[in-house]
Amino acid sequence: MHGKNFDLHLRSEVLQRGRGDFPTFEHACLYAYRYMGMHFHAFVKALSNENRKIPKPGADDLILDFGCGPATSLFGFERAAVGRPLAATTFVGIERSQSMRNLAEVAVRTLDLGHFALEATAEQGAMSCAELGSGRANRLFLVFSYFFGQNLEYEIIEEVARAASGTISRMRPRQVVSVYTNIDIECAAWMPNGDIHYWYRAFIGRMDWKPQIDEMTYTYPVPSDLELDPNHTASGSLTYDVQAHTVSAQ
Ligand SMILES: C[S@@+](CC[C@H](N)C(=O)[O-])C[C@H]1O[C@@H](n2cnc3c(N)ncnc32)[C@H](O)[C@@H]1O
Repeated sequence: MHGKNFDLHLRSEVLQRGRGDFPTFEHACLYAYRYMGMHFHAFVKALSNENRKIPKPGADDLILDFGCGPATSLFGFERAAVGRPLAATTFVGIERSQSMRNLAEVAVRTLDLGHFALEATAEQGAMSCAELGSGRANRLFLVFSYFFGQNLEYEIIEEVARAASGTISRMRPRQVVSVYTNIDIECAAWMPNGDIHYWYRAFIGRMDWKPQIDEMTYTYPVPSDLELDPNHTASGSLTYDVQAHTVSAQ
């Protein structure tokens, strides 16, 4: 399958059925080509909300990214954290697709991160946090960049919540920053009750946090028919929630 057919096949897999299986490295690359720019711009926008006073990751901080894909969040953090030593931050990406993990590894190495792990499940990711973070973290960033808009199940939410709470109690970070981004279009079709925030609310409820979902529009470059046209942009509606939580001393 080549060119446009390949692209259409990917779109029907990812968008219409709400699941991202990337059986080959080419699928992962094509996904990144089509969507990474859009997700990156959304992520940077969410981090730039001046009302939320969100700190940027630096040394001794840990980023735990659920459904990291091609490590889009890292590029977003890099853009937002200008002048801060992102290379000293530890990154743990959880991604079930092996080919996507391979692509994420290219990204992590490009950004020269000293400490990172890419794992297939949330449980393995939580274990890697404990190993890599030498027991403690200053700040823990929990990232859900276009993760909760997928066709998920309750068991996944339970596993994600277990991994997040387990990492918080083991690493005892001074602060937890959760970053959630999502869109408001195609995914509503497969979300319970047609509510695109359904799985996010389920997760944040288990953490005893309250959702503070905002919406904004943003403009991003789009590839057009597999041709990169730098002048071709589109506007999207971004829904997101970025929150900082202070963890009480234990
Ligand atoms: C919509 S993509 C978003 C990728 C990336 N976060 C971004 O913003 O570009 C969702 C990713 O989550 C992965 N994924 C879906 N369910 C997962 C699960 N239960 N555990 C780990 N990864 C999962 C998919 O393979 C896919 O790469």
